[in-house]
Amino acid sequence: MADTESKIHGEWSSRFAFILAATGSAVGLGNIWKFPYITGENGGGAFVIVYLLCVVVIGIPIMMAETMIGRRGRQSPVNAMKTLAKEASADSRWQYLGWLGVIAGMIILSYYSVIAGWALAYVLKAISGTFMDGSAQQIGGLFDSFVKDPGSQVFWHTTFMILTMLVVVRGVQDGLEKAVRFLMPSLFVLLILLVGYAMNTDAYDQGLSFMFNPDFSKITGNSVLTAMGHAFFTLSLGMGAIMVYGSYLPKNVSITKTAFMVAGADTVVALLAGIAIFPLVFANGLEPSTGPGLIFQTLPIAFGQMTGGVIFGTLFFVLLVFAAFSSSISLIEPAVAWMVENKGYSRLKCCVFLGSLVWLVGLGTVLSFNEWADITILGKNIFELLDFLTANLMLPIGGLLIAVFAGWVMKRQHSQDELQLNNKGLYYCWIVSVRYVSPIAVFLVFMHVIGIL
Ligand code: PHE
Repeated sequence: MADTESKIHGEWSSRFAFILAATGSAVGLGNIWKFPYITGENGGGAFVIVYLLCVVVIGIPIMMAETMIGRRGRQSPVNAMKTLAKEASADSRWQYLGWLGVIAGMIILSYYSVIAGWALAYVLKAISGTFMDGSAQQIGGLFDSFVKDPGSQVFWHTTFMILTMLVVVRGVQDGLEKAVRFLMPSLFVLLILLVGYAMNTDAYDQGLSFMFNPDFSKITGNSVLTAMGHAFFTLSLGMGAIMVYGSYLPKNVSITKTAFMVAGADTVVALLAGIAIFPLVFANGLEPSTGPGLIFQTLPIAFGQMTGGVIFGTLFFVLLVFAAFSSSISLIEPAVAWMVENKGYSRLKCCVFLGSLVWLVGLGTVLSFNEWADITILGKNIFELLDFLTANLMLPIGGLLIAVFAGWVMKRQHSQDELQLNNKGLYYCWIVSVRYVSPIAVFLVFMHVIGIL
């Protein structure tokens, strides 16, 4: 067992490596692309507060639960759930929870790769000086004509998918650790720089107050669902990504500390992105609620105006691509790990097969911005539908079940062993959250949206 385990499963070289990889998974398009635009669409401050609450009350405890299940199960989510269910003499159908995650991850990656493709395309636009001296209108137009062109989006989507799969083929340590080690700090520095730029615009106060002055009349059941869904999405929870990374975690590492660090870093990056973007939105007379194009329509304006804009612009989009990378890898890793374990195919074969499947589904998202823009179900185009289905439904449901599993099915002795919380109070908070608070919160939000409450 130990032998096959080490063949299939590498182990992180250190605690720091795990933190880096988990942060790499968490910090991605969700923080820099999605958080600002959904905050814009949902009215700002009040939405941000609900999101932050969800991160602390639901997100961190579930992140601990996922890491713990992964480390104890030591396999892909599907098999880890199976093993732990057996250990607890529980129903073997718990393994389907692993399946839910595998499928959610693949669907998310299908559109994630398209958006990451936009970022790739914007690297080239930045290098070639396209943003220099562009007015807000011109830069907005640039984005509009780009997304109207399915050909170039397919090209960049394909490029991103191939790059991702190349890293995934190499396996967990080689590819990942190296990529993330230098990426995270650089991204952070660049965001601070952009915040510095935003501070010097006239609309800095307006941007800040949009983000932090809550107006609860703007909150609807749906925005609460979006905020909660985003807490799962941004922390990579509810689908097994953190579980898979947890399975590579050495035994002696504190799960609690790492969960707090990862969630903390993730939240800081999202807030910095918002603080950098909203002042620009208002300074240029744009609407915060323009949707998925928001950062592509605002940040280039800033790059166009600042000295060294070509360099900073290029650097920013390169880093965004890297941030997307370290997340996309973790979106497909549960599926790859499962296929390698169960089908006995080589990692390469599994990657080619799964990567192609995801790529194909991604074409639906590409077309939803142009040729198929009018095809809607429940008022949502294909991209919106896939996003809603995964971030707002599948991840919270997955998270709820993970919480129930960790809190009710696993033996207390086992979760205590894994979490090793010497502080009894902290363990108590955790168990109360995964047993009651998280499941009930997710359930109530769903009920509210369905209209029963
Ligand atoms: N957390 C990533 C982001 O914010 C997306 C992601 C979701 C990655 C789920 C893995 C699992 O961009």
